Amino acid sequence: MSKRSLEKSNKHFKKALKKLPLGVTSNFRYWGDDETIYIKRASGCRLWDLDDNEYIDYRLAYGPYILGYADERVDQAAREGMDIGGVFALATELEYEVAQKISSMVPSAELVRYSNSGTEAVMAALRVARAYSKRDEYIMIEGGYHGVSDSVLWDVDIDDWDPQSGPPEKISSSHGVPDKIGDMVTLVPLNDANKLEDVLKKKHGDIGALLIEPILGNCCSISATQEYMQAVRSLCDQYDVVLIIDEVKTGFRVAKGGVQELFGIEADLCTFAKSIANGYPISAICGKEELMRSIKYGGVLHGGTFTAHSVAISAANKTLEILQNTDALETVNQYGIDLREGISNILTKNDVPHCFTGHPSMSGLFLSESAPTNARDFKSSNYPFYEKLAEELLEDGVLCEFDPREPWFICESHAKNALEPTLNAFESALERAMKGD
Ligand SMILES: Cc1ncc(COP(=O)(O)O)c(C=O)c1O
Repeated sequence: MSKRSLEKSNKHFKKALKKLPLGVTSNFRYWGDDETIYIKRASGCRLWDLDDNEYIDYRLAYGPYILGYADERVDQAAREGMDIGGVFALATELEYEVAQKISSMVPSAELVRYSNSGTEAVMAALRVARAYSKRDEYIMIEGGYHGVSDSVLWDVDIDDWDPQSGPPEKISSSHGVPDKIGDMVTLVPLNDANKLEDVLKKKHGDIGALLIEPILGNCCSISATQEYMQAVRSLCDQYDVVLIIDEVKTGFRVAKGGVQELFGIEADLCTFAKSIANGYPISAICGKEELMRSIKYGGVLHGGTFTAHSVAISAANKTLEILQNTDALETVNQYGIDLREGISNILTKNDVPHCFTGHPSMSGLFLSESAPTNARDFKSSNYPFYEKLAEELLEDGVLCEFDPREPWFICESHAKNALEPTLNAFESALERAMKGD
């Protein structure tokens, strides 16, 4: 039971439940009948709920706020986008300008198309890959997340897996997804190039694409090694498989050129959303010209009524301008490093084994001595304790996801005034979590 007053949120929950399943618009926003909160406003790295509880936010809406909530520079650009008028079933000049910016930051993004969400961008990328390769099956990485389309709602069942009983089972993450779609998906563990090669050898001729987040942004930010990513690139070349790097979380966050810059490899196709417009709804499907030219009349169909809405594309233009020309990403990275150091000192002082995974701008905090190398290793983490700690942090006004698989997202605004209050809260929350209060 929360020590915060949640009176207004609780009251609103009862009302919302009458119209909205679970009282919310995403299953992940439901925290329980008495715990679900509703947001009144947000600014910088802080949120306020209906009861005026204040939170320093490390969920950041699962990543899109790279600068911070209500960033005046981006919001002003969005207002200018409003003056353009919306969507027209016709294109605007800004689409080209934003594409130029993306290409100059991400070399593999030779051509660009826009959608509204990460889900749509991944759907389009898979379609382009299939059309180009003329093969329907694809490989995904265990623990990867690529949105809510039927094609990608597949993962291994780690929760119910007994490591003594062989590899974990492939399951769909939702009811209502046809089993037949799952037949086209092969899941492989991250960082095991031999396993990947086995699959490619066996299924060569069927598999047209490999879809990967090199930093598993939905599985504790577990990271591929440089060596593995190089092997992935060369195996895809060897077996004529389209390499799709899903940068929906890492793009315009871990580096100006995203995870591809970090690893020094180029995708055939890549997808962006989230940080591209600091919270405005727009995504991009990008890639090598040869593949992207499959999008044409008589070829791959791509479109959508709301694609490149004048508000979102203006926000993207401004966000990318800021990310390209200022040291915002260095600020984000440095804050992430400082936060890791502060948290690590507190955990060490209290003899809590831990390590960090991923990039400082989206760290996974893993409560175990050694860093996981794939989603199966998640089993070895003390995640019930993490959940307890996250609940206690919330009471002290620090919001991180209860599920340790979600990283701690940093935005530029955190660097202004969030470190000390976060670490103070961490210290007292840890003390209570350890006592089991
Ligand atoms: C790597 C990745 N791909 C795709 C998606 C789906 O994006 P959206 O929620 O905008 O549909 C997400 C969402 O978290 C993601 O993390």
